[in-house]
Amino acid sequence: MTITVAITGASGVQYGVRLLEVLNQLGVDTQLVVTKSGQELIGIETQYSLNYVTSLVNRTYDEMDLAAPIASGSHISNGMVVIPCSVKTLGSIAHGISSNLVTRAADVCLKEHRKLILVVRETPLSGIHLSNMLKLSQFGAVIVPASPGFYTRPTTIEELIEVLVARVLDLLQLDHTVSRRWGD
Ligand SMILES: Cc1cc2nc3c(=O)[nH]c(=O)nc-3n(C[C@H](O)[C@H](O)[C@H](O)COP(=O)(O)O)c2cc1C
Repeated sequence: MTITVAITGASGVQYGVRLLEVLNQLGVDTQLVVTKSGQELIGIETQYSLNYVTSLVNRTYDEMDLAAPIASGSHISNGMVVIPCSVKTLGSIAHGISSNLVTRAADVCLKEHRKLILVVRETPLSGIHLSNMLKLSQFGAVIVPASPGFYTRPTTIEELIEVLVARVLDLLQLDHTVSRRWGD
């Protein structure tokens, strides 16, 4: 199984890093794009170095490398997660504007009918954001608002992050033991 992960410049890059850690532990083949703003947010919001984040994956591509394999539908992958997904990237994908590798790879997922999961983070949401989310949902993307549930009573930020990451892993149909399920 090969999963493409993109980290963009929305708040909550911790979600992306934790997802990569778990995918690494599960032995999933991963390829990563971190936008310039995503790199800035990793520096602002976390203690992680970019080197640490890229050490978690099998391949990393530059945001502007539109010749990377994931820019082509002929490259097979099992899906893509944009986590977190800024409303800028959301809007670009919703309008088919493939100006960087994240939006191009997402566009490829849509045209090839592969799984595309967008962990959108912004608040409040404008009508434009909502309309872009509705449009992408209608065209097959899965919209996962970065809003973890509290029913497992998380007591740390790490647990809260895992509540959301667990839902993404479920959507990727991966067996995992991250976070608690309701009823367990
Ligand atoms: C500290 C900080 C927090 C930000 N948080 C968000 C956010 O939560 N959601 C969002 O859509 N944009 C946020 N932005 C703005 C994006 O980084 C900006 O729109 C950027 O152009 C997104 O580019 P990208 O999608 O190519 O990474 C934030 C910017 C900064 C500096």
